[in-house]
Amino acid sequence: MAQNKDFIFADSMNDLPEKVSFAWKSPSNIALVKYWGKTDPQIPKNASISFTLSESYTKTTAHFTKKKQSGKSEISVTLGGEKMDSFVPKIAQFLERINVYTPYLSNYHVEIITENSFPHSSGIASSASGMSALALCVMSLEKVLKPSLSASFFKQKASFLARLGSGSACRSIEGELVVWGKHENVVGSSDLLGIKFSEKIDPVFHHYQDSILLIDKGEKVVSSTVGHNLMIDHPFAEQRFEQANQNLARLMSTLKNGDLDTFMSIVESEALTLHAMMLTSNPYFILMKPNTLKVIEKIWNYRKETGVPVCFTLDAGANVHVLYPKKWKAEVDQFIQSELVKYCQNNHVIQDQSGMGAVQLA
Ligand code: DP6
Repeated sequence: MAQNKDFIFADSMNDLPEKVSFAWKSPSNIALVKYWGKTDPQIPKNASISFTLSESYTKTTAHFTKKKQSGKSEISVTLGGEKMDSFVPKIAQFLERINVYTPYLSNYHVEIITENSFPHSSGIASSASGMSALALCVMSLEKVLKPSLSASFFKQKASFLARLGSGSACRSIEGELVVWGKHENVVGSSDLLGIKFSEKIDPVFHHYQDSILLIDKGEKVVSSTVGHNLMIDHPFAEQRFEQANQNLARLMSTLKNGDLDTFMSIVESEALTLHAMMLTSNPYFILMKPNTLKVIEKIWNYRKETGVPVCFTLDAGANVHVLYPKKWKAEVDQFIQSELVKYCQNNHVIQDQSGMGAVQLA
């Protein structure tokens, strides 16, 4: 069982390279059983599982330059060619948080050059892909300092560090499905990092399609961080955490036996329960938009009329993820074009599918 202390770097820092750069491409992920509620430091209140995506990703290059003298590390961030000073405090906080595990970083200035495959204001959170890409760049530096580090430790620690940046980011290192959070039915599962769901899944779930309908690209009225915190005194919190763990157990069975009807009912119930938690928080809030509900209704009607196994899930926002097996791509594409696209801002849909996780670019 992984423990915090396993991830403390305790090797020599005598031979630090002067300047090194690494680049990683890391995807976003979409949770099927949701993480909503946590304790410090980024410990989830229940286990979650997600599909790793392939087309929604962040590419990050990190340049580490050794400091000439001690003092604060300089951090700079460029997103899509634009200097983003507003991102610096968040990155600084992340680097501070991981410092006990990555003490070598204190010797470096860090220049981060990053770009997302999806538009900045699309309502798709870039924290999962962004934080995992950065954590991987840090691990590449660690690998230079300790070449004997194993591939599996590399991934585990990358997930561990990514979690400290954003909880869901720990589920973006590998694919196609990742479990995060201790669960009695998942061997090796941990609150500290995401692990690949390694049981054999029914082929219907390979390359599972996710057409992301961009219903609302505006700034969210309540951030995920605030939302998580509202679970602390939430009247339904305990039942919710228990339900999520039960849903994960049931969902795993469907992943193995290919029972799509049960899969869809769990996934949709999870999405609606996530938003039900928001509706019943104090203060309460709503992240869905009228078009979110219109799309859900259309999906239900279409599924009933045609029998095509298409369902939806939601993140902490108004966008709708339309999920279905690859085999039904042509039919669902047509349905989306004729019935759903009109509810999206600027008719914007991102065509994504489950994928295998992050890759090193340089
Ligand atoms: C609704 O991972 O964004 O997408 O840990 O505060 O960074 P922080 O939160 P974040 O929360 C994601 C919440 C969710 C559900 C999920 O991805 O499991």
